[in-house]
Amino acid sequence: MSLLFFKRVLANPLQVGYIVPSSPFLTRQTSRRLDFSKPRVVVELGPGEGCHTRKIVKRMDKNSRLFAFELDEEFVAHLRKQFAHDPRVTILHRNATEMPDVLAEHGITHCDYIVSGLPFLVIPEEARGKLLGSISDAMHEESRFITYQVTTQLCDESHLFELHDKEYCALNVPPINVLEFKKAQAAR
Ligand SMILES: C[S@@+](CC[C@H](N)C(=O)[O-])C[C@H]1O[C@@H](n2cnc3c(N)ncnc32)[C@H](O)[C@@H]1O
Repeated sequence: MSLLFFKRVLANPLQVGYIVPSSPFLTRQTSRRLDFSKPRVVVELGPGEGCHTRKIVKRMDKNSRLFAFELDEEFVAHLRKQFAHDPRVTILHRNATEMPDVLAEHGITHCDYIVSGLPFLVIPEEARGKLLGSISDAMHEESRFITYQVTTQLCDESHLFELHDKEYCALNVPPINVLEFKKAQAAR
């Protein structure tokens, strides 16, 4: 798994963003934030080789759905192989910026959780603004946007998101913040 990750970092360092996949400590910290006491619609942005996806899917109830948006075609092929027999999981070889249209194609207007591994820090400003706007648009009042980031810069996007909870994962390369946002009152 890590060999594939390393190959894709070398092929496209800016798009992949980090040099190794998230650690099991980080995937545990993010996945435990999702509550599957009832069916949920989950969107994952930038799943890479699927370390968070596997943890989330393991916890998902039988009526929940997960849509994963990944740009890298080798990661997509690897993910499709892993989840080929799980009808709850849809792997999309699409840009995260296309999320609203793609969800609409599946008859979904809003989702309950958006889990994002996108390296927002290195995404150019215009694309970042578009992405964050799409994420906020896809959320309802109870939705949560869960993301792991080296900085807490996303807390500045208070017109879109309100910080609900934050923790630090030191046992990851690099050590990272886990940020959980609600949709901002102003964006509802
Ligand atoms: C930092 S890696 C995280 C991978 C994995 N989630 C993890 O934690 O190990 C970021 C991933 O986002 C993907 N990515 C970057 N920009 C994207 C975009 N606009 N739409 C979809 N995927 C994107 C990259 O190809 C890469 O797989």
